[in-house]
Amino acid sequence: MSGPNSSYDPVQVTPLGEEQVFAMRDEALAAIAGAADVDALKQVRTDHAGDRSPLGLANREIGALPPQAKKDAGMRVGQARGAVNQALAARQEILEAEAEEQMLVTETVDVTLPWDRTPAGARHPITLMSERIADIFVAMGWEVAEGPLVEAEWLNFDALNLGADHPARTMQDTFWTEPAENHVVLRTHTSPVQARTMLTRTPPIYVVCPGRVFRTDEYDATHSPMFHQVEGLVIDEGITMAHLKGSLDHFAQAVFGEGITTRFRPSYFPFTEPSAEVDLICFVCRGSGVVDAGGSASVQCRTCRGEGWIEWGGCGVVNPRVLVACGVDPERYTGFAFGMGIDRTLMFRHGVGDLRSFFEGDVRFARAFGTEI
Ligand code: PHE
Repeated sequence: MSGPNSSYDPVQVTPLGEEQVFAMRDEALAAIAGAADVDALKQVRTDHAGDRSPLGLANREIGALPPQAKKDAGMRVGQARGAVNQALAARQEILEAEAEEQMLVTETVDVTLPWDRTPAGARHPITLMSERIADIFVAMGWEVAEGPLVEAEWLNFDALNLGADHPARTMQDTFWTEPAENHVVLRTHTSPVQARTMLTRTPPIYVVCPGRVFRTDEYDATHSPMFHQVEGLVIDEGITMAHLKGSLDHFAQAVFGEGITTRFRPSYFPFTEPSAEVDLICFVCRGSGVVDAGGSASVQCRTCRGEGWIEWGGCGVVNPRVLVACGVDPERYTGFAFGMGIDRTLMFRHGVGDLRSFFEGDVRFARAFGTEI
């Protein structure tokens, strides 16, 4: 039989003895001192001052002790917990201050830096040239026409007298879209805009159409699977090759300067008859093929490679078969058409050696052409 447990029982109190409580406290204080930041300290708080921490558990046990032991242990545990809480609060304050200081350093904004120096971009040289060309013709009373880049095979070829088995179809390496039975291509030239214009308007027609075209060419210094052409089309009564020549001479002078004329070389396009290649008299050597090299010396002109002329594009009198296919009366109307590369025009106008310069997106290249907005 045992009586009420009124005497001091050293066995029961051992876990709450001085040594243990001090050890718990010191361990907590060391962890607090070692916490590197506010987050780490939060964990230390849970581990060393929370309900399930050694000191928290010790505190719970106090209630079960006999009165004298309760008092001693209560004081020891209470003091230890007090010291830990105080250390936590002090460390918290230090770490918060440190974090703030750190933030001030890393998030510094230098308000004296210039804020208004965003480098200005530049409009693309091809866009500028396309607009310049359109303006030249608009000034003569022509209109600007447009067509889709993804085009019906019929408009890109058949309407232009390029039937499915026409040998000239292979002159333009074509991107076909899937499925093939839809007969849709990426337009290989701007000439389908001729057909579209004739089909939707009644003559007189005076249109110019700058735009993108696509061919399965390699991408190198002089070729690109995507490039730009400008198409011109006139349909009216009494139009002759002379009107074509006059328009192209005017176009050449407006782009390359006074006295820069054109010459025609016989050629073949299914949609024009007769057809011609247009050459431009070299605007550097003016047809001589040589340029002054100082004194009495002269060297071959680099712009035309000594030819005196530069190939510019194709042209001709609109084939009556095209007029018929597009619903224009060939007995009443005649017309002319021309087409040339805008990229090529820019290349020799500005001495650009590599076509790819236009497509690589380097703003320093574009800026050299002016930043007209
Ligand atoms: N469409 C022709 C080409 O891309 C150029 C051209 C246009 C020729 C108009 C004659 C008339 O090669």
